[in-house]
Amino acid sequence: MYSTRLAGVELEDPLIIASGIIPDVPEYMSRVCKQYKPSAITTKTFTLHPLEPHGPPTLIRVGDGCYMNAIGLGNPGISELKPVGCKLFVSVGGSSKDEIVKTASLANDLAEIIEINVSSPNRRSYGADMAQQVKEIVKDVKGVTTKPVFVKLGPWDNVQDLAGKALEGGADGLTLINTLKGMKVDVISAKPILSYGTGGISGRCIHPLAVRVIHDVYKEYSPEIIGIGGVFSAEDALELMEVGAKVVGVGTLIIDQGLEAFETLRRDFHRLVQEMGINLTEVIGSAVKK
Ligand SMILES: Cc1cc2nc3c(=O)[nH]c(=O)nc-3n(C[C@H](O)[C@H](O)[C@H](O)COP(=O)(O)O)c2cc1C
Repeated sequence: MYSTRLAGVELEDPLIIASGIIPDVPEYMSRVCKQYKPSAITTKTFTLHPLEPHGPPTLIRVGDGCYMNAIGLGNPGISELKPVGCKLFVSVGGSSKDEIVKTASLANDLAEIIEINVSSPNRRSYGADMAQQVKEIVKDVKGVTTKPVFVKLGPWDNVQDLAGKALEGGADGLTLINTLKGMKVDVISAKPILSYGTGGISGRCIHPLAVRVIHDVYKEYSPEIIGIGGVFSAEDALELMEVGAKVVGVGTLIIDQGLEAFETLRRDFHRLVQEMGINLTEVIGSAVKK
């Protein structure tokens, strides 16, 4: 009743865990898989070689259910990707096209889906700084992987344009949205609180932005979409589906309230679908006027 297929990948339900939320520690991920049985986990973004995270503080609370992080894509390198007992969507990044392509080829065997991160705002020359090359990156990644390739974009003014380029390059789907670049200053010291200076805003406060971006991209291209952004309730998840998401990723809710909240969200979502007597396939894009 809740199962879905995303780019040919069978999922038990449309709710997955977003990138960067579960640390890239195989033993911990295995425990999460066993205990909470998410239909899939997106890994934190892997690069070809290990990257040190920025110094603390890397995550601050900026409002009710709203956070700002600048971890800076710190990760142990793609060779540390291990099977963990759940379906893995493997997020890959890099500071050059070649690095992203090599990382994707090494992720291929353990990934159900490869997600290219060209949107993280938290490390110079990575993530968002690679977005202009998205079409060429996707083309080359498609050449080295047998798995569906998704591209993760941020909520910028040119998101339509980048979505079009990613799809032209051969992307099988899009992940929308990454965090939004912000800043918070300590008024006593007059210095930014995050060690990196800026950070990516996530959580409740970006939900309407996610709704609008997914709506606009779905309206123009109708691709397969993993919708992410401030999903805190079953209604939030359904809303992202109504504007075009086929699958919904949950991030900050888990940071704010723990993995139990993800379990509760899934239960509430199943109940809501049952109570409304809706067919999930028909829900996708139902709020988008073409
Ligand atoms: C602490 C933290 C780390 C994140 N790390 C990554 C990452 O490594 N790669 C990525 O593509 N997105 C990363 N994200 C972005 C999330 O996957 C998600 O797109 C964003 O937080 C919006 O969803 P949310 O409001 O449900 O958190 C991170 C988010 C947070 C809060």
